[in-house]
Amino acid sequence: MALLEVRDLQTYFYTIRGIVKAVDKVSFDLEKGEVLGLAGESGCGKSTIAWSLLGLVPPPGRIVGGSIKIDGNDITKMGEPEIRRKIRWKKISMIFQGAMNALTPVYTIGYQIAEPLIYHMGLSKKEAYERAAELLASVGLSKEFLNRYPHQLSGGQKQRVVIAMALVLEPDIVIADEPTTALDVVVQYQVINLLKRINREKKIAMIVISHDLSLIAQMADKVAIMYAGRIVEYGPSEKVFNDPQHPYTQLLLKAIPRLRGPKEKLAYIPGQPPDLRNPPTGCRFHPRCPFAFDRCYKEDPELVKLDKNHYASCFLLEEKGVGGL
Ligand SMILES: Nc1ncnc2c1ncn2[C@@H]1O[C@H](COP(=O)(O)OP(=O)(O)OP(=O)(O)O)[C@@H](O)[C@H]1O
Ligand SMILES: [Mg+2]
Repeated sequence: MALLEVRDLQTYFYTIRGIVKAVDKVSFDLEKGEVLGLAGESGCGKSTIAWSLLGLVPPPGRIVGGSIKIDGNDITKMGEPEIRRKIRWKKISMIFQGAMNALTPVYTIGYQIAEPLIYHMGLSKKEAYERAAELLASVGLSKEFLNRYPHQLSGGQKQRVVIAMALVLEPDIVIADEPTTALDVVVQYQVINLLKRINREKKIAMIVISHDLSLIAQMADKVAIMYAGRIVEYGPSEKVFNDPQHPYTQLLLKAIPRLRGPKEKLAYIPGQPPDLRNPPTGCRFHPRCPFAFDRCYKEDPELVKLDKNHYASCFLLEEKGVGGL
């Protein structure tokens, strides 16, 4: 049994303008200490998956189908008090997209880290501040930062604090949602290395969410490529990056500028991602797919297994595939 097993997850937003099918039958696994990368264009449902895993889908959203098992226990069957008591921050925590700009301005960094230790773990104030200093040290910040306020920190330092906060209750899984966006390149590199070190040293499993495939390639053991609320390709990073099978993954990889080697003309994917209130019939990628044929307009392809742990959903690949996820 995997540490985390997500099956056919459906999370919809019930807006007055219609139902946004933000996550529609998504399945994946995460083993202890493993890093999964979740990639895809803006609006494809990456953050919605993360919110679902923490039981924090904002209204008017809710989980309407599927299961999320952590250590075999399905959190979609748990009420809020049970999730709060047993799961959130303790088993699975999150570095929210843009969190470094959401640190509470009126409290010191020390207070913001120590408070959950006093509240959740019953530590004394002294113990909690000692532990907060240790946590800051583990993200490369000295104990002087305990007494500082968020506005006295650089962007990179704030992101380190936010990472420390996700580690406070020693979770088994940390979700990092766009952990390097809005940081300059050198600081991005430092944050990636910090997350890698935490993963290695503490054996914490991670889900790293980004539209930046080079970040995912640097960090992830395996990767899920999302398009319009679905996973279209899923497999070991070296397989997906070196031998992508789904036309969408192929186009996405062609759209990354290469640092080394001959300069190629950058491809871009024509068209827009679909409106998730009314996704295209058949394969959701068909309006933008250069290989689309009749069947793609009419039928919805399933994820099929192409090779050990490598899956994709495309009719062109169906003959290669055996079984599903
Ligand atoms: N609170 C909400 N109310 C209604 N629709 C929402 C809400 N939050 C997200 N959505 C919709 O759900 C879909 C998925 O959004 P989500 O934020 O999960 O995408 P994302 O992949 O994380 O995008 P980005 O890369 O821009 O962060 C989008 O169509 C979005 O408009
Ligand atoms: Mg997002």
